[in-house]
Amino acid sequence: MTGTSSTTDNAIKKVVILGGGTAGWMTAAYLGKALHSTVDVTVLEAPSIPRIGVGEATVPNLHRVLFDFLGIEEEEWMRECNASYKMAVRFINWRTPGKGQSGPRELDKGGPDHFYHPFGISPEHDNIPMSHYWFKNKFEGKTDEPYDYACFREAPLMDANKAPRHLDGTSPTRYAWHFDAALVADFLRRFATEKQGVNHIQDEMTRVEKDERGFVKALHTKEGRVLDADLFVDCSGFRSLLMNQAMEEPFVDMSDQLLCDRAVATAVPHDDEANGVEPYTSAIAMSSGWTWKIPMPGRFGTGYVYSSRFTTQEEATAEFCELWGLDPETTKFNHVKFRVGRNRRAWVKNVIGIGLSSAFLEPLESTGIYFITAAAYQLAKHFPDKTFNQTLVDNFNKEIEVMFDDTRDFIQTHFYFAPRTDSPFWRANKELKLPASIREKIDAYKAGLPVNPAATDDTTYYGNFEAEFRNFWTNERYYCIFAGLGLEPDSPLPILYHKPESVAAAQAMFTQVKKEQQELLNSLPSTHEALLRLHAK
Ligand code: FDA
Repeated sequence: MTGTSSTTDNAIKKVVILGGGTAGWMTAAYLGKALHSTVDVTVLEAPSIPRIGVGEATVPNLHRVLFDFLGIEEEEWMRECNASYKMAVRFINWRTPGKGQSGPRELDKGGPDHFYHPFGISPEHDNIPMSHYWFKNKFEGKTDEPYDYACFREAPLMDANKAPRHLDGTSPTRYAWHFDAALVADFLRRFATEKQGVNHIQDEMTRVEKDERGFVKALHTKEGRVLDADLFVDCSGFRSLLMNQAMEEPFVDMSDQLLCDRAVATAVPHDDEANGVEPYTSAIAMSSGWTWKIPMPGRFGTGYVYSSRFTTQEEATAEFCELWGLDPETTKFNHVKFRVGRNRRAWVKNVIGIGLSSAFLEPLESTGIYFITAAAYQLAKHFPDKTFNQTLVDNFNKEIEVMFDDTRDFIQTHFYFAPRTDSPFWRANKELKLPASIREKIDAYKAGLPVNPAATDDTTYYGNFEAEFRNFWTNERYYCIFAGLGLEPDSPLPILYHKPESVAAAQAMFTQVKKEQQELLNSLPSTHEALLRLHAK
């Protein structure tokens, strides 16, 4: 009896979220659902302080982990957020020297300088992933087909601008989304305030009040409000007003691994009817970084992510304008400065940082919104009571640290192994140090071993976020990037030479991929047609 009442007394009753960008509203909606509206949740957002205004490409778990969890149909939020489909990241000109250009150049040994990084777990045979049979064939001169085309159904579908879904809504493939970031935050704000009872206060926080233990007690605002709570979530963006400023938690800078720290972004109108809609994010290599192209109905979002150590804002803007034929005088640019790294701890006392206030990696693999979803999931899983059990805090911090550092290392390999050396930026990337954790994975890859193979098949992997979270960058991901950049194992997996029957039987997987590619090319609608149908409703 006493135990029950003391547990109830200790329950968190009020949460205040500082910031109403993508992070603030995703966290509010997630907590609203996860806590079954038993906690009073308030979002404090300063209308005078703009959101970052970028963040348009995602990864596949977004729908299941967030929208499915909230009970929101894919078609509903896609329509509200001007969303489109994404089947991969397409890397363009990461191997050949030259200025930024939207189409692939020719590789020395022939073929276009591009490769896809699609989603999904490939089949295996005899516990050995398909990638390893592909590489053995390639090594022995039995195929010259690139990895993405040989092992994924999606590559030729993307060349043909096909949608990942049939018109009846069924989908044969894994995909994510492109959307308008501002519309997503507004959509979730309406959902959280109208359906979950989340309070929304538009006012600017000016002061943080702490108690004698150093816990945050209340936020004071410009208009004289005092917002007290048991738990505070810092979603104030790069300002990190609670975590870095009030709690004085240090930011661990990782610019020694990732050199990009600026972006110049804009939106470009696009004639979908005449040109079709590309169902992928493009990552186009530039002289001091790379440019994203994120197609949405009627336009594409684009931004040159560059390193201020190697180019100036003026030079980068000029190269960016040249890439798309933009007029620098009339185009409206969003110039963004960003920091690469994470807070030493994501959760300190009664404050948790989510979004840009906590951590940011440059946007190459579209992980910003994924990190927010994953942090909201982990917060619900480790949700404390007023005693703030340190084990909950420490476990949460460990999860966030591993998620972030593992991704940082993976992204560094993109720049490190890109064979380009034609500018100071690309040369400098080759001189950076790779951490021991990623070195081990590269050694395994070179020795012919699978790197982080998924323990489950495609269906189970994507149906279980715990499994996905623990092994986010699977063997397929490493193979796409490494093989795509031309980095190959030293030799095939040696045991394959002792398994002639497996090697022979495994060839059926390649035949099956080819067959399905053809069937899907014939049956899937174009992305443009699928979007017209979706957005017309
Ligand atoms: P954001 O800055 O948007 O919001 C901060 C909020 O805090 C605002 O509402 C503001 O009003 C409020 N605030 C600040 N001070 C306040 C105060 N004193 N009082 C009250 N409120 C206050 N991610 C991804 O998944 N895919 C992608 O393609 C990209 N691309 C990308 C490109 C570039 C160049 C960058 C820098 C980032 C990305 N991202 C991304 C990351 C993505 O943009 C980011 O994770 C989300 O937009 C979340 O942003 P936040 O909500 O954390 O901050």
